[in-house]
Amino acid sequence: MIIASQVTLKPDSVLGLATGSTPIGTYDELVELYARGKLDFSEIKTVNLDEYKGLDRENEQSYFYFMKKHLFERVNIPLASVHIPDGTAAEDERECARYEQIIHDLGGIDLQLLGIGHNGHIGFNEPEDVYERKTHCVELSERTIEANKRFFASEEAVPRYAYTMGIGTIMQAKKILLLASGEEKAPIMKQALLGPITPKVPASVLQLHPDVTIVGDEAALSLL
Ligand code: PGA
Repeated sequence: MIIASQVTLKPDSVLGLATGSTPIGTYDELVELYARGKLDFSEIKTVNLDEYKGLDRENEQSYFYFMKKHLFERVNIPLASVHIPDGTAAEDERECARYEQIIHDLGGIDLQLLGIGHNGHIGFNEPEDVYERKTHCVELSERTIEANKRFFASEEAVPRYAYTMGIGTIMQAKKILLLASGEEKAPIMKQALLGPITPKVPASVLQLHPDVTIVGDEAALSLL
């Protein structure tokens, strides 16, 4: 497994992590390897792709909460070593600059895990006319709100804004692991990986990265 090898070969790796349904199985496998004494996270550092604006860490819908539940509290990673944008930050620009600085000070991301949205988003980089390079505050697209409302009491409860690493932040990761599962991701996987490189399909930029591994089930990769 790619992440397990990364942790074993470089025990102080900086892992870029993702939320959503797709990586849950990945986190479960890491937890199992840890429980069997095969992995040690004590020196690992993590930076997550994104966080909803307006949700605090205790909010069950926040990505911090998700990460704690699925990974952080199940392995021996010190909480001081995990980083996620602060959804309750008072000033967007300052928070985004702070987050970029953290990634810079850690020496960049060794391995970035990515899911892909139905509209081709990576992190919360939604389809746009231009690529946003750095961590920024983004207005979520209707498609994303629609896809994510299943985790909330109602569609109105889904935050409209989020902080996300930029395309440049993601592209600077040394290695990228793109995960996709399910038939409904097949069309966007084809568009992103075989179509033109355009900010209208944010994940298409990955065609330019020198070290991307794609892991998907048969359904998600069926059109490739
Ligand atoms: P999903 O989300 O894993 O829940 O499909 C992926 C994404 O939106 O990046």
